[in-house]
Amino acid sequence: MRIVLLGGGGFIGSHLAEWLLARGTHDVIATDINHDKLRHLLDHGRFTYFDSDIHTDVQLTRQLVESADVVVNLVAVATPKTYTLNPLHVFELDFLDNLRVAQMCAEMNRRLVQFSTCEIYGPTWLSLVPPELATPEFIARADITQSEDSTAMITGPINETRWIYATSKHLLERVIHALGMQQGLDYSIIRPFNFVGPRFDFLPSDKDDTSPRMFAQFMDALLRGTRISLVDGGAAQRCYTYIDDAVECIGRILEDRTGSTSREAFNIGNPGNEASVVEFADMMIDIYKAQYWDGVQPLPEVVSVPGKEFFGPGYADCDRRIPDITKARELLGWAPEWDLRSLISSTMDSFVSEYRSRAAERPAPVALVAE
Ligand code: UGA
Repeated sequence: MRIVLLGGGGFIGSHLAEWLLARGTHDVIATDINHDKLRHLLDHGRFTYFDSDIHTDVQLTRQLVESADVVVNLVAVATPKTYTLNPLHVFELDFLDNLRVAQMCAEMNRRLVQFSTCEIYGPTWLSLVPPELATPEFIARADITQSEDSTAMITGPINETRWIYATSKHLLERVIHALGMQQGLDYSIIRPFNFVGPRFDFLPSDKDDTSPRMFAQFMDALLRGTRISLVDGGAAQRCYTYIDDAVECIGRILEDRTGSTSREAFNIGNPGNEASVVEFADMMIDIYKAQYWDGVQPLPEVVSVPGKEFFGPGYADCDRRIPDITKARELLGWAPEWDLRSLISSTMDSFVSEYRSRAAERPAPVALVAE
């Protein structure tokens, strides 16, 4: 197949491109505004890359859509700090620009695999239950698993600008569903649940940019001996999924020839890997100390910070996100394999190796001697 990855230069796109090329039969065409994560693929005979922005390069995007068997749209701002500080940009890119691609696919009769987010479920219904009713017995019996075709979506008030991302993706999914229903668009929607792996975001100190997500923030603190900030004490819980598990599932959706994945949304996540942010930080520190720490450099100080201070006044959080993955299991025979400790170890290994090899390449400081 000829597979076009719009926004293919990010963390997920770069792994998906590798997986598809390893199959040996697909032609993969990727576009993005940065290709640092694709450098190792640029010389591959079946890979083509265009430095291109779907916001401005509408003509090229149209040509690529027309030439494709499958269009995979990964273009998005996906960092909570940007949702709270620049909500208009999130709406323009994540909704308007993505909508244009979906409309092109409908018009040209091309299959679309659209990346959405687990965040469209929002906080769980349990988080809205008054504390006096949420007894431990009630919580133990509450089913808060998030299912593609039955769970209601929850957001917050408009001044919580964080939700512009979830609502943009939510409306995009609804319009794509309607394009399928009324104009015959062949699509699949993917809702990722906290994928982690090599090339995840970037270390914030490298770019003087504090927008990356949690794993990159904590990794930066470990490598540089700075501070791990636990937002609101780190009580929020997530289910973490290793990128190799995730691309295996995405690849099966792309290669599906039975039509069973058409006009379906898929949760891709690992319900067995739930941890609170504080538990995740403790595990990272533990693994780092055991495997990489030289015993000399200071370990990070761990502090709790209010979310509205750390991310901006429009911040709100999802309490838990547990995917129901029955659909992917039944239609694709897929199940995640990587447990939490192994996925942290493997990701950390790639970050530490890259950081150390870059440090080794830097010229040694020259001593200044007074004349
Ligand atoms: C983000 C996106 O908004 C989702 O759409 C996406 O699906 C998800 O990442 C993902 O990776 O799949 P979120 O999980 O909230 O959602 O992103 P993170 O920035 O990684 O935050 C996870 C938790 O860690 C939050 O509770 C956050 O407050 C906390 N956090 C983050 C910290 O405690 N410290 C930090 O330095 C960064």
